[in-house]
Amino acid sequence: MAKGDVRGARLEALRGLVRGAQRIAVLSGAGMSTESGIPDFRSPTGVYSTLCSEEVFDIAAFRRDPSRFYRVMAPLYAAMAEARPNAGHEALARLETLLDKEVCVATQNIDGLHQAAGSRNVQELHGGLSTMTCQRCGRRLPASDFRKSLLAGTVPRHPGCGGVMKPDIVFFGESLPEAALDAAMAAFMGAELALVLGTGLAVYPAAMLPQRRQWGCALAIVNLTETPLDDQAEVVIHARTGEVLPLLV
Ligand code: OAD
Repeated sequence: MAKGDVRGARLEALRGLVRGAQRIAVLSGAGMSTESGIPDFRSPTGVYSTLCSEEVFDIAAFRRDPSRFYRVMAPLYAAMAEARPNAGHEALARLETLLDKEVCVATQNIDGLHQAAGSRNVQELHGGLSTMTCQRCGRRLPASDFRKSLLAGTVPRHPGCGGVMKPDIVFFGESLPEAALDAAMAAFMGAELALVLGTGLAVYPAAMLPQRRQWGCALAIVNLTETPLDDQAEVVIHARTGEVLPLLV
């Protein structure tokens, strides 16, 4: 494992791993998007320290009282509506478009910023905010139809049946979308480089993906703070993804 300053030996080691790998499997988390103005979850400035407890993202709590979820989510919806991909998202997309690597981005993020930056193979492990499903009639509609209510922090209701709309994101207590998890798993099992970006690796099953890498596949981590897999990685860089990733491409 190499540790040091962002532009030192660790960066060179990471560059070497990226250069030597054709198939790259990425696991990204909320740290990827903090530089786009969206808070992460577990940092001192994160959602769970400043806005609410994890319980707000629990499916049983949502069903009991959706108004609490939407009240808490209003500032997050506002931040996500304004957010644009940052230098980290863009550099990651350029691994595919400029360097012709085969990249699968398994993301825990629900903000759609990897896709907006041009990453082509994005597996949304925790779903996405762009669509919503009615809890009564089951119809799916674009979240943009409910923009006013989402920004105001009120419960969005289906215009036809009046049912509560739920964002198509994975709440605690719900299963991950099977197709996305399978595709992510296959990517990690077939990768030559597993790249962990901006996630504290605290939530399963997403956090187990890097452990599915095969013998010979290197593990590299770029995260501001320590993660439980730092000791297993060939390269660990404790810095911002928006600072490190552009230096790789
Ligand atoms: P966390 O908040 O747990 O972890 C984010 C990590 O990113 C932290 O370790 C930060 O130190 C790091 N970080 C912050 N800004 C960074 C930057 N610019 N560059 C590099 N690292 C940075 O967020 P996740 O790991 O994404 O799930 O959390 C996983 C899941 O927990 C989320 O998907 C969400 C949450 O509950 C659900 O809502 C189901």
